[in-house]
Amino acid sequence: MHALLFSLLCVLVPAAQSSHHNRPREVRGADQNGKYILQAEGIRAQFIPYGASITNLFINDTNGVERDIVLGFDNATHYSIDQLHPHLGGVPGRYANRIRNSTFEIGGEEYHIEPNENNNNDTLHGGPNGWDYRNFTVVAYTQDSITFSIVDPDGEQGFPGEVISYITYTLSPYTWHIKMVALATTKKTPIMLTSHTYWNLDGFQNPDSDTALNHTLHLPLSGQRIGVDNILIPDGTILPNLPGSVNDFWTQPRQVGFNLDDPDIVGNCGFNCSGLDNCYIVNRDADGPYDWRTKGPVASVSSNFTGITVDIFSDQDAFQVYSCVGQNVCSSSVF
Ligand SMILES: *[C@@H]1O[C@H](CO)[C@@H](O)[C@H](O)[C@H]1NC(C)=O
Ligand SMILES: *[C@@H]1O[C@H](CO)[C@@H](O)[C@H](O)[C@H]1NC(C)=O
Ligand SMILES: *[C@@H]1O[C@H](CO)[C@@H](O)[C@H](O)[C@H]1NC(C)=O
Ligand SMILES: *[C@@H]1O[C@H](CO)[C@@H](O)[C@H](O)[C@H]1NC(C)=O
Ligand SMILES: *[C@@H]1O[C@H](CO)[C@@H](O)[C@H](O)[C@H]1NC(C)=O
Ligand SMILES: *[C@@H]1O[C@H](CO)[C@@H](O)[C@H](O)[C@H]1NC(C)=O
Ligand SMILES: *[C@@H]1O[C@H](CO)[C@@H](O)[C@H](O)[C@H]1NC(C)=O
Ligand SMILES: *[C@@H]1O[C@H](CO)[C@@H](O)[C@H](O)[C@H]1NC(C)=O
Repeated sequence: MHALLFSLLCVLVPAAQSSHHNRPREVRGADQNGKYILQAEGIRAQFIPYGASITNLFINDTNGVERDIVLGFDNATHYSIDQLHPHLGGVPGRYANRIRNSTFEIGGEEYHIEPNENNNNDTLHGGPNGWDYRNFTVVAYTQDSITFSIVDPDGEQGFPGEVISYITYTLSPYTWHIKMVALATTKKTPIMLTSHTYWNLDGFQNPDSDTALNHTLHLPLSGQRIGVDNILIPDGTILPNLPGSVNDFWTQPRQVGFNLDDPDIVGNCGFNCSGLDNCYIVNRDADGPYDWRTKGPVASVSSNFTGITVDIFSDQDAFQVYSCVGQNVCSSSVF
């Protein structure tokens, strides 16, 4: 698998032009592949209860050819069977990314959660039975919107307290909206949710490349990133993305793989790892009050082959970019 992952709470806007009223009506079920189909002008998407995942996102390219620009399996049943589990398009929970030593403290009490990474030295994406290993419940479904819900019991994976969450996806013209709500109903507990969508804006149809390494990436507000140790656990530092350095996607747009010949790329995404798997900070407070919906994208990615651009808007102060390092064992034909 060769793709680009943006992991964040976001609204995604490829050149939106709004015009009409397209109100929901009937409630239907999943199709024969177990997928729930949503559509709006210029965009069609499919979702499944497993991990509240997106499986397909169709958009026409500049030549009018329809492209599926996210990664997903053809049949919903395959998600539970797949052994690699690359968190394909789902919502990791209750805590996305890594928790050091699978241990944390709240109110003087120490909690030990289920480890599942680096020889059980840490917990990734909520543990071996994190949210994106489970089927959510569909609680609302219309022509252009779907809401998934999950109840995560007290003590599940070692986390304290029950959490109830609602994930709502809505399509409007050329736009995919993501809204995530999580309620800790009984105890204080760490919660961090995201959309773990993998993008290939060529839909794997580019004869010159089956990767996203030639996509252009711009992170205009991210002059800094979170410092991490060898296994990508934050080490308490905030690092500058110096102009021209391997993490500089802010001074100008650059190809995702522009830095692969730079010796500094070795170790950039953990021990002996060359590529991107980093948390970039969004710096926009200094400009004064802002509305994240109109302030401009925190990230833009585009492909010359299809002419498709994805602009990502977010109300969050950071987001992770993953260039799919370490996953070349997957055959791209699987997807
Ligand atoms: C998807 O998988 C299920 C379970 O194996 C199967 O019943 C269904 O026919 C499959 N859908 C298609 C379109 O093959
Ligand atoms: C792409 O264009 C075709 C032809 O106009 C149209 O039928 C189709 O719905 C479009 N696809 C999307 C995702 O809008
Ligand atoms: C999730 O639902 C699918 C049906 O789409 C089913 O095949 C699968 O076994 C379920 N997985 C889990 C973990 O419940
Ligand atoms: C890791 O957690 C264990 C308890 O599970 C604790 O005994 C140990 O001291 C912790 N190690 C570090 C390095 O924090
Ligand atoms: C993880 O823990 C084991 C001991 O349980 C240790 O040998 C190993 O070096 C640790 N780190 C990684 C990255 O696996
Ligand atoms: C595509 O990306 C690779 C890896 O970064 C680079 O070597 C190559 O020159 C790029 N190709 C084009 C046409 O830009
Ligand atoms: C680091 O990667 C290089 C190149 O792939 C490899 O030759 C080397 O054995 C690796 N080192 C370790 C300690 O894994
Ligand atoms: C995209 O095409 C433009 C115009 O041909 C060219 O200047 C630019 O370098 C290309 N970008 C990439 C990432 O290939």
